[in-house]
Amino acid sequence: MRILVIGGGGREHALVWKLARCQGVDKIFASPGNPGMKLLAECVDLPLQDLEAVADFAQNQNIGLTVVGPEAPLVQGIADVFHARGLKIFGPTAAAAEIEGSKAFSKQLMEKYNIPTAFFKICEDMETAKAYIREKGAPIVVKADGLAAGKGVVVAMTEQEALDAVDDMMGTLKFGGAGARIVLEEFMEGEEASLLAFTDGETIIPMVAAQDHKRVFDNDEGPNTGGMGAYAPAPVMTEALKAKCVELILQPTIAAMTAEGRKYQGCLYAGLMINGEDIKVVEFNARFGDPETQVVLPLLSGDLAEIMLACATGRLHELEVKWSEGAAVCVVMSAGGYPGIYEQHLPISGLAEAETVPGTMVFHAGTKEIAGGIVTAGGRVLGVTAVGESIAQAKEKAYEAAGKINFVGAHYRRDIAWRALRDK
Ligand code: AMP
Ligand code: GLY
Repeated sequence: MRILVIGGGGREHALVWKLARCQGVDKIFASPGNPGMKLLAECVDLPLQDLEAVADFAQNQNIGLTVVGPEAPLVQGIADVFHARGLKIFGPTAAAAEIEGSKAFSKQLMEKYNIPTAFFKICEDMETAKAYIREKGAPIVVKADGLAAGKGVVVAMTEQEALDAVDDMMGTLKFGGAGARIVLEEFMEGEEASLLAFTDGETIIPMVAAQDHKRVFDNDEGPNTGGMGAYAPAPVMTEALKAKCVELILQPTIAAMTAEGRKYQGCLYAGLMINGEDIKVVEFNARFGDPETQVVLPLLSGDLAEIMLACATGRLHELEVKWSEGAAVCVVMSAGGYPGIYEQHLPISGLAEAETVPGTMVFHAGTKEIAGGIVTAGGRVLGVTAVGESIAQAKEKAYEAAGKINFVGAHYRRDIAWRALRDK
């Protein structure tokens, strides 16, 4: 089978890396792809805004399965275009991807179907929003309704911060149309975990739970980023809690989407807040997480292409998906200054040496190939991932590998996985 992967970050490198190990896979294309996957996939520059052109490529190249990494093409309806032509694709339709594309939609869905989540209010105008904030007080969470590249959430610890966030989102439209409508949400205490699941719309198979680190500096300090590292399995998600998640969250959500005429197929990402025995949904994403994918997929013992094809064709119930016993840790190396202003096109050395550490993969997130070698080309540059028998062992290897890589200003946290190791 020939596969097309849409996207070009660390998540897509991990997808390509895993798919390349599958028995039935003859060739992988990636668009735009990245230099790190070049040995595994042919990178092609498709006009991703033009979904018909992407479908033409899939048809002409006899692609058996297209796998979509990022949310934007899903929300735009890439799966609908593919279905209309009878092409197989892993990822939800536009109507189903609204679970990520509109926070108002996902909150209303959870309310209607009794899926545990924080109390909330949807506000269409500034006056209502501000009045509600003054009534409830802080802490309170302000969220832009639409897609805002992961930046549309303000966890306000004071009333003023919340009011300012409303001005930014609804007044100056900092996130464009995404903030024209906002969701105000009760602040939840607890520990976060990401539980991703494969689904064909009926059967749901959870993956190993992961945790990511959003703040740029050690001890979870500094501004939020796209993710500075991740590890799996997350010890906070015990087998009992995971079973509860499937029963109270994942399965009811899939059933709710079908009941709403928005049958959901692909990877469903549940961002969860865990407080003792209590679990609530923070958000849903319509895709794999990044960097979570970089630690989850290395632990999958099954055949990813087979699983994805089963999702796309409604046959997931036929499969048994197995996971390895070990653990994985991903340390993100970012450009100095990220998530603020940073330099690009800095030469990277030590990539090959890093991969000599057994069980290590260096997933590329923001790199570019030029005549002289590989240079940085983004904020998050690399995801240095290692698998081991335990989180502690995987962590040691990931840091050993990261230590062999150099570029000017390279930054990475030294405490990835601290939550998993704190009691040891
Ligand atoms: P989201 O994009 O909805 O995942 O929000 C981004 C981050 O904001 C989450 O990962 C949480 O750390 C935080 N967050 C969102 N909603 C809440 C909430 N209701 N209570 C506490 N923290 C939240
Ligand atoms: N790691 C968070 C996300 O992928 O949304």
